[in-house]
Amino acid sequence: MEIFTRIDALRQYLDAHKETGGPISFVPTMGALHKGHLSLIEQAKLNGGLVICSIFVNPTQFTDPKDLEKYPRPLEHDINLLNTVGCNAVFMPSVEEMYPLWPEKEEWHIDLGETEFLLEGAFRKGHYQGVTQIVKKLFDAVQPNFAYFGQKDYQQILMIEKMVSFFQLNIEIVSCPIIREEDGLAMSSRNIHLTERDRKSALILFAALNFVKANYGKLTPSALISEASKMVNTEIGVELEYLSIADRKTLIPVKDDYKGKAVALIAAKVGNTRLIDNVLLD
Ligand code: PAJ
Repeated sequence: MEIFTRIDALRQYLDAHKETGGPISFVPTMGALHKGHLSLIEQAKLNGGLVICSIFVNPTQFTDPKDLEKYPRPLEHDINLLNTVGCNAVFMPSVEEMYPLWPEKEEWHIDLGETEFLLEGAFRKGHYQGVTQIVKKLFDAVQPNFAYFGQKDYQQILMIEKMVSFFQLNIEIVSCPIIREEDGLAMSSRNIHLTERDRKSALILFAALNFVKANYGKLTPSALISEASKMVNTEIGVELEYLSIADRKTLIPVKDDYKGKAVALIAAKVGNTRLIDNVLLD
């Protein structure tokens, strides 16, 4: 696997590939890779051509400096994992490579619409500006035909799709299913911060979502939210941030008489670790 830290070297490699043909598929990550990330690479491999992964802990999408500081960075382990799934190249730039003015903030801003400020956006101010800013810069560097994202970060995919149409980018966004541990916990780089007790308590997120899914259409959305929130709130060490049953495109909460397709999204602090999860409802 090729390793690049500079945009110009990455571009030379990709331009040489362009002459021989085949699509370029891209999987952006922040590292601390697990089976969820690897599933995106495996999916991307099915296209043939080149699969490029990026590992970059993007400072502009963190609202809590402590969260940024303690974000895991097991680089050597990540590179080994990428080798095992046959990734062609990894791009691991420095902060200065992606943000030449750093530590000065870049002031440009994308109109992501109202959805930016709901759910994750309400709890993490400016988060999706940071995410779309870095994904745009990474897209400019890699110029992929396809880019792969996990449904684990449901709202993130909507925001990236919005950014792609805002800039009229010719990149197909492919969304991939959530990969879970055997007991249902959604895989996340943050799970390593869970203590043994937190790890058990964390199962309440998926249990609450499953309760909502099993009873969707039988109880009203507000009754479902109230019951499932009670479940979460009685779990020791778990602090619910939001639980929403929402329109799949706008993420606006559905009304009680609504019976169509929707998505249930949850965020909670388990001990000191913030976790998110979601399930589709129909
Ligand atoms: P990160 O959290 O590292 O996730 C990288 C990609 O892996 C995202 O598309 C995410 O949705 C996906 N992913 C994470 N856990 C998953 C799981 N359990 N199942 C399936 N997919 C999963 O998301 C980011 O990084 C950043 O915001 C980024 C897009 C790289 C921009 O900095």
